[in-house]
Amino acid sequence: MAMGETKLTAHIYMDANATTPLAPEVFQAMRPYWIDQFGNPSSIHMQGQQAHSAIDQARESVAALFACGEADVIFTGGGTEGDNSAIFGMMRTGDHLITTSIEHRAVLQPAERLAARGVDVTYIDPQPKGAISAEAVRAAITPRTRLISVMLANNETGVLQPVEEIGRIAAEAGAYFHTDAVQGAGKVHLDVNRIGCHLLTVSGHKFHGPKGAGAMYVRPGTPIEPFILGGSHERRLRAGTVNVPAVVGLAKAAELALASLTDGTEQRLVRLRNRLESGLLAIDGAAVNGAGAPRTANTTNIRFDEVDGGALMIALDLKGLAVSGGSACHSGAVEPSHVLSAMGLDKHAANSSIRFSLLRTATDEDVDRALDIISEAVKKLRSLAPA
Ligand SMILES: Cc1ncc(COP(=O)(O)O)c(C=O)c1O
Repeated sequence: MAMGETKLTAHIYMDANATTPLAPEVFQAMRPYWIDQFGNPSSIHMQGQQAHSAIDQARESVAALFACGEADVIFTGGGTEGDNSAIFGMMRTGDHLITTSIEHRAVLQPAERLAARGVDVTYIDPQPKGAISAEAVRAAITPRTRLISVMLANNETGVLQPVEEIGRIAAEAGAYFHTDAVQGAGKVHLDVNRIGCHLLTVSGHKFHGPKGAGAMYVRPGTPIEPFILGGSHERRLRAGTVNVPAVVGLAKAAELALASLTDGTEQRLVRLRNRLESGLLAIDGAAVNGAGAPRTANTTNIRFDEVDGGALMIALDLKGLAVSGGSACHSGAVEPSHVLSAMGLDKHAANSSIRFSLLRTATDEDVDRALDIISEAVKKLRSLAPA
C-alpha cells in the first residue's frame, strides 16, 4: 500500500458505547417505510393504517425487550429525549430529586435546570470502583423525595449499578424510580418488574438501531406529564408524528438485542474484553478504572500512566483503531471526565484514560491487532514525552 493511503477494511471500531452501526436486518426492516409505506399512523386511510399497524407491531417487540405490557411503551426521539422527559415530566418546584454524579449529561443537565427552578437535588457520588451504594441512596431520601434517577450501566466504565436494590428502596419510600438504561439495552436483561422502576429509557443507536430513535417504559399510574406538547400521539405522553421507519428499525434492533442475550454473545464478549484487558494490563503503568465492579461485557476503561489520553486516542485513530478518551471538550477547554473524577481519579489520571467498548461483532483478530497498535502507540508517546 502506498504511503498515505488508508485501507478502510483494516479499521477496528472499539467505540460501541458511543454508537453502533445499523444491523443489516434493521436496515432491511426500515426500508419499505421510507418510500412505499409512507403513511402517517394517525391517518384513517389504508396508508395510515399500514403505518399504524407497523407501530403496533414495533411496540410488541420493545415491550418484549422490557418484559412489560405493550401499552407501557412510549416511542421517543432517543436517549436524551427520554431522560429529559422522565426528569422534567416528574418534578415540580419544591420536590426533591436524588440522582448521581456519574449520570450522562442527559440527566445531569435537566437536574441542574430544575435546581435553578426550586427543585432540591442530591447527587450521590460513586464508590472508588464506580458503583453507587444503594444504602447511600436510601440515606438521601426525605419525605419530599419524588424521583430517584440512577443509570443502569455507566457509559464510560460499563459499571453496572445496583438498580434492583434501588428499586426496592424507592418502593419502600414511596418514591418514583427512573433508570437510564441506554447502555444496558442488549447487554443485560431489562426486566422492568425485576428492576422495580417506574420509568426506563433506551436509545436505538446504542444497540444497532437507528439514531434519533428511542423508547421509554412508563409504569401504569406513574404521574408523568408530557415533556413535548402538541398532538395526542403516544397516549398524549409524547406529541409529534411518530417516526415510522425509525420505530420499525428500533423494534427490529430490540428483537436482535433480546436474542443476543441468550445466544452466547455475552460470554464471547466477556472473553474478548478480558483478553483485551489483560493484554493492556501487561503494558507498564496500565490500570483498569472500575476494576472489580460488575460491568457490561463489552467495556473496559484503562488509564495509562504518563500518557496523554487525547494524544493516544489520535495516535490510535491514525493507526485505524477508534476509541474514546477520558476527557471531553467543553466550551473549548479540555475537561477530565466527570465520571472518572467522581470516582476519585485526579485530573492527570482521568486525562490518561481510554474507553474501549466492543461491538457485538468483535473478533479475536480485532483484539490481537488492537493490542499491537496500542502497545506500540503507548511506547512511542512515552518516548516522545519530555523527561
Ligand atoms: C448513559 C447514556 N444516557 C443517555 C445518552 C444519550 O442518548 P442519545 O444519544 O440517544 O441521545 C447516552 C449516549 O451516549 C448515554 O450513554
